[in-house]
Amino acid sequence: MIVRRAEPADAQGLKELGDAVGAEPEGWLATTNGWRDVVDERRYLRAIRRYPNAAVFVAEDDGVIVGRLSIARDQHPASRHVADLGLMVAASHRRRGIGTALLEAAVRWAHAAGVRKLELHVFPWNTAAIALYEHFGFVQEGYRKAHYRRGDDYVDAVLMAFWIAPAGV
Ligand SMILES: CC(C)(COP(=O)(O)OP(=O)(O)OC[C@H]1O[C@@H](n2cnc3c(N)ncnc32)[C@H](O)[C@@H]1OP(=O)(O)O)[C@@H](O)C(=O)NCCC(=O)NCCS
Repeated sequence: MIVRRAEPADAQGLKELGDAVGAEPEGWLATTNGWRDVVDERRYLRAIRRYPNAAVFVAEDDGVIVGRLSIARDQHPASRHVADLGLMVAASHRRRGIGTALLEAAVRWAHAAGVRKLELHVFPWNTAAIALYEHFGFVQEGYRKAHYRRGDDYVDAVLMAFWIAPAGV
């Protein structure tokens, strides 16, 4: 299993992963109507290759994309030290350290980019993800009521954050 930056050629694999995880009945992701199509995914991956403020990392096992982490920093001058992330691992590959490895890649990217704080939203019923984030060192910072629309419902989300120590600490 390797963790690396995503390339445009990963678009198909990333769509398949996003569709599969998004279709799990527990409803882990905010997306409910399928991942964006391969053309849009490839366009996005191409666009961010030289863009310093966002990155996508993949976990690849024997040529198959089994994990994805995307990270993008805030654009407001007062919060450029903050970056938001999203994460998923294929059901077949969970509890093998892949989520943790992807988070470590995000922290390395953040260090290099001068980002000091990572944040994310997670649904309150997603105890696996909350356990992973807390195990990694994220803390719960808030509770967002009716923050996401899923189908006909508005659902709550937990806001979590991780502070990045300055280099050498
Ligand atoms: C949440 C998710 C990314 C975790 O990825 P993962 O690769 O399985 O995580 P890791 O193997 O690195 O887990 C590290 C630690 O997190 C905790 N953890 C992870 N999954 C857990 C679970 N199902 N139950 C309890 N603890 C869990 C454990 O402490 C684990 O260490 P251990 O396996 O040594 O006990 C994965 O379950 C997933 O993709 N779920 C569906 C999509 C999703 O929920 N994405 C996050 C949206 S905010």
